Amino acid sequence: VLYGVVLAGGTGTRLWPLSRAGHPKFLHPLTGTEASLLQATVDRLDTLTTPERVFVVTGVAHAAAVSRQLSAMPEENVLVEPSPRDSCAAIALAAAVIARRDPEAVMGSFASDHLITDKEEFASVIRRAAVGARDGLLMTLGITPTRPETGYGYLHCGPELREGPILRVEEFKEKPSYDVAEAYVKSGNYLWNAGMFVWRVDVFLAELARQQPQLAAGVSRIAQAWGTTEQEEVLGEVWPTLPRISVDYAVMEGAASAGRVATVPGDFGWNDVGDFHTLGEVLTADPAGNVVVGHDITADRPTVLLRDTENLVVVPGSGRLVAAMGVRDLVIVDTADAVLICPRERAQEVKHLVDQLKELG
Ligand code: GDD
Ligand code: MG
Repeated sequence: VLYGVVLAGGTGTRLWPLSRAGHPKFLHPLTGTEASLLQATVDRLDTLTTPERVFVVTGVAHAAAVSRQLSAMPEENVLVEPSPRDSCAAIALAAAVIARRDPEAVMGSFASDHLITDKEEFASVIRRAAVGARDGLLMTLGITPTRPETGYGYLHCGPELREGPILRVEEFKEKPSYDVAEAYVKSGNYLWNAGMFVWRVDVFLAELARQQPQLAAGVSRIAQAWGTTEQEEVLGEVWPTLPRISVDYAVMEGAASAGRVATVPGDFGWNDVGDFHTLGEVLTADPAGNVVVGHDITADRPTVLLRDTENLVVVPGSGRLVAAMGVRDLVIVDTADAVLICPRERAQEVKHLVDQLKELG
């Protein structure tokens, strides 16, 4: 049986002002359903594992909200980081804690902020990936790219290693430049890395020790103390010294060069809903292309009024009516204390607004 590790870390600054440091996107029911992205991520694992085998790694600020949203999960399965050290430390901590329970456990690592529409296909892809993982491969899930996205990792696919198919990953390139990404997409030999991984904890920890010895040693010290009276003291001492780096740069690029990475290509309606434009693309639009992000499903009055508009992404939420007329290709987000308006094609740049806001203090 698989162990599930869910990373609930980043604040999702490209979804400001909906996603905030205090209320990050994984806690939101972004798509108009009752469940938050985090709850949907955990629900997706229900045919693959059991609640006792699901761990969530999150920051101290969100631990209480995470436990509240995931009532079926044992509270000790929420692994709380004193500060964000990026995804490698978070995954390594979970792997090391699981390894103490079950040294050859196969774990899947899942981002808490992705949309997946085909749950059955997702489960079947994970099961196929687990086959490669048991054989000692570091497994990724590969998505057919549709644009030269520079915020993703790219998998250069090689020969089929097993039926399924499981393909060797010749090269793992995280966040290439635009020109490189464009050439990759044109070549047809590359898949996007979906940001989910399946591997045996012992295999991952060995690769971590090879490439990131300091991180591996630190995490191993923390795992030794985990669940003992020394946990908080060791965590407080060691955690801040861990390198702040994502697992993609820290482990996956080098592991692929060493021939240890493979991928299962999958088509399960994946979207990483990084910004309002991509969020708009996965939701159902009206005939004029307008999308209303319906997280306010309990409202009894209309929350959005549109006339002669095209291709808008509108996110109501403050309780006020949002009305628009004669405009197109815009993102409009209304929250209690901030309103955002920007062209859809520049939705990626919202993170710069957040930076600007931070500079203002
Ligand atoms: N607990 C914890 N602590 N989780 C973290 C932290 C942290 O400090 N930092 C990041 N995460 C979590 C995020 O919440 C997310 O679920 C996952 O790790 C990936 O981090 P992102 O910051 O969202 O990475 P990315 O989107 O830039 O890139 C990754 O995902 C892409 C697909 O969406 C990479 O894996 C890319 O290769 C991939 O294409
Ligand atoms: Mg992401």
